[in-house]
Amino acid sequence: MRLDKYLSNAGIGSRKDVKNIISSGRVTVNGTPVRDSGFHITESDDVVCDNNAVSHHEFCYLMMNKPRGVITATEDASQKTVMDLLPAGMPNGLSPVGRLDIDTVGLLLITNDGVLAHRLISPRSHVKKVYYVKTDGALSAADVDAFASSITLKDGTRLLPAALSIDENDDHAGYVTISEGKYHQIKRMFAARNNRVVYLKRISMGPLSLDESLPEGGFRELTDDEVTLLKEI
Ligand code: URA
Repeated sequence: MRLDKYLSNAGIGSRKDVKNIISSGRVTVNGTPVRDSGFHITESDDVVCDNNAVSHHEFCYLMMNKPRGVITATEDASQKTVMDLLPAGMPNGLSPVGRLDIDTVGLLLITNDGVLAHRLISPRSHVKKVYYVKTDGALSAADVDAFASSITLKDGTRLLPAALSIDENDDHAGYVTISEGKYHQIKRMFAARNNRVVYLKRISMGPLSLDESLPEGGFRELTDDEVTLLKEI
């Protein structure tokens, strides 16, 4: 791998930042200063930047607690995106995995590991996603049964069975587990039951659960254990 890509993937800075860092002689490979961004690095090389060893993380995996009011996209001409919430100098190629609506909050994975991202959102993977939902109308046992047997959306699309469990303290709230990811799926499921979603938060995706200590708009890197679990999907 090229030295600039290696440093950028390790979170040292954007590709442009690391090119400047390399050309100013701040990086050594196996003890020798290297000023060539295209220098080829192998797994066994010792890379040091500003006297700090740079460990090899080929990919970056972030968990964000998405806030309301930002769109799930890498860039947009008029609206703020989730990527605008990340500081400068993050590794290249990061993208959100899947989509949350502008008014949906909660767990959003952001990574530059395209293979894993593709696997997580592929309809064939049936990765389970759990949402906490608040609704305008009260939820009933009939809703639970309808979700379990299969909802047919107003446009005629028949969905896979899903699980709805009503919050025991609030019959206008509950948890929904789905294993597909159609456009506005949760809102359309409740619309099919003549109800309306007033609050939607994703709390898990496959083995990954939202870290509730993250404020809305906050993010952190996944732990190695979390990455390992995701790769088992
Ligand atoms: N379903 C929705 O309706 N919206 C989301 O953001 C996610 C799932």
